[in-house]
Amino acid sequence: MTSISDITDKRPIGVFDSGIGGLTVAGSIARRLPYERIVYYGDTAHLPYGEKSAKALRSYADSIAGFLQEQSCKAIVIACNSASAVAADGLRKSLGKSLPVVDVISPTARMAARKYPQGSIGVIATKATVNSRIYARRIARWAPDAKVRMLATPLLVAMIEEGFFNNNISKAVIADYLSRSNLRNIDALILGCTHFPLVKSEISGFLGDGIQVIDSTDVVADALTEVLRERKLLADAGGRLPTHRFFVSDLTPSFVQSTEIFFGKKLKLERKDLWA
Ligand code: DGL
Repeated sequence: MTSISDITDKRPIGVFDSGIGGLTVAGSIARRLPYERIVYYGDTAHLPYGEKSAKALRSYADSIAGFLQEQSCKAIVIACNSASAVAADGLRKSLGKSLPVVDVISPTARMAARKYPQGSIGVIATKATVNSRIYARRIARWAPDAKVRMLATPLLVAMIEEGFFNNNISKAVIADYLSRSNLRNIDALILGCTHFPLVKSEISGFLGDGIQVIDSTDVVADALTEVLRERKLLADAGGRLPTHRFFVSDLTPSFVQSTEIFFGKKLKLERKDLWA
């Protein structure tokens, strides 16, 4: 709980993703920390991040972190698994102790590891995230006996971006992916991509009650709250609600339309190409 004694810092929180998927995380932050101002950056010109090399993703992340620093952000949330997988450590090193960096993978992996220390944990994610093997490494830190089963599900990102969910097409794609042999006999499934909360209920419906489906939205918002409280960076819990800003590197009508589904309400997107 936020107490009046730790309130101080009105600077915004920087949140970024390859596009609008990270709005699922930003939405959770806005709901859990309503007095925090968010500056969001969606690198829509470069998506899908899941298909990019680690080198390219690091370079995009550096540019975006530079922009968020210019916006006077007090913390950065990497609301993208693919970027978290390859760029989080580098950003932490370069930004130093002054600017905390919260990624989506560590808090989610820790939560799953603590809950299923001897279990079999499935992860569905982009190719970039699967190839990095980051979930297996992170989970092994807290649960060396847990088994981690990874599956790249790149079609899910494109499918969700195109608005195909809660229909027969999404049902068929989900059923095909989740029936693959390496997800057999899992105890829990991590949604290792910030787009996937949009199909969480379909996935849970397919897997049934016995398998917990874990997404990173609230876990990451809680990890951010912890960091802000520890460093005394929380915003004033009184006064007016903040106005967030949402930047994208490339602006198209379909991104504008999709924001409502991802964030929970309609947003005004501003075009800001950091590479122009
Ligand atoms: N939202 C990104 C993630 O969490 C994936 C989308 C993309 O491939 O750009 O990995």
